[in-house]
Amino acid sequence: MIAKSAITLDGRTTLSKEMGQWISSPESREDVQRIRSEIDAVLVGGETARVDNPRLTLRGEFAEGREAQPIRAVITRNPESLPETHHLLSDEHASQTKVFAAEDLGEVLDEMGSEGVTSVLLESGGRLFASAIEAGLIDEVVLYIAPIIGGGATRLMPVDDVVARLEEVEVQRIGCDMRVRGIVNR
Ligand SMILES: NC(=O)c1ccc[n+]([C@@H]2O[C@H](COP(=O)([O-])OP(=O)(O)OC[C@H]3O[C@@H](n4cnc5c(N)ncnc54)[C@H](OP(=O)(O)O)[C@@H]3O)[C@@H](O)[C@H]2O)c1
Repeated sequence: MIAKSAITLDGRTTLSKEMGQWISSPESREDVQRIRSEIDAVLVGGETARVDNPRLTLRGEFAEGREAQPIRAVITRNPESLPETHHLLSDEHASQTKVFAAEDLGEVLDEMGSEGVTSVLLESGGRLFASAIEAGLIDEVVLYIAPIIGGGATRLMPVDDVVARLEEVEVQRIGCDMRVRGIVNR
C-alpha cells in the first residue's frame, strides 16, 4: 500500500477557506494521476468521502485506452453516513465503488486481496493514515509538500505516539511543491 498526501509546510492536510481548495500544484496532482494509473485500487476513509466528495478517477491521458478505472474503496463504520448523491456512489463508475463497513484496515486489505487487488493507494486524511502506519500496513509514503504555512484544522499525523522512518528516500521538486517519497522501515 502506498499512502499519498498533500500537506502544508507545517503538516496540515486542509486549507482554510480563504486559501482555496488545492494544497498541491497542478503538476503534483498530475503526478497523483500517474500513481493512480499504476495501482489496482484507491482507498479513503469515510470522513474524506463525506467531506471532500472526491471522484478518485483517472482523467485525461491517464484514462485513455483503459478498460476500467481503478477500484474506489471507502472504509467506514457507518456506510449509511455516505451521501448517495456523492460522486463515489452516483457517477458512471459507481458500480465499481466498494464500501467496506469496517474499521480493521488489515481485514479490508485481505478482502481486497482475495478479490485480486495487489496494490492500493491510500488517499485518506490523517486519522486513517495514522491507523495504517500504526498497524504497519503502509509500504511507501508519497508526500507533496506545498510552500504554504498554516492551513485548515486537519493534520497528517493527528496523534503523537505513531512514528515511522522512511528509507530509500527520493526528494524531487514538482511544480512549486517538494515531493518526498520513501519506503516505510518496519
Ligand atoms: N491533503 C490531502 O492529501 C488529503 C487527502 C484526503 C483527505 N484530506 C482531508 O482530510 C480530512 C479528513 O481527514 P480525517 O483524518 O478526519 O479522516 P480520514 O482519515 O480520511 O478518515 C477517517 C475515517 O475513516 C474511517 N475509518 C475506518 N476505519 C478506521 C481506522 N481504523 N482508523 C481511522 N479511521 C477509520 C472512519 O469513517 P467513519 O467516520 O465513516 O466511520 C473515520 O472517520 C478532510 O478534511 C479532507 O479534506 C486531505
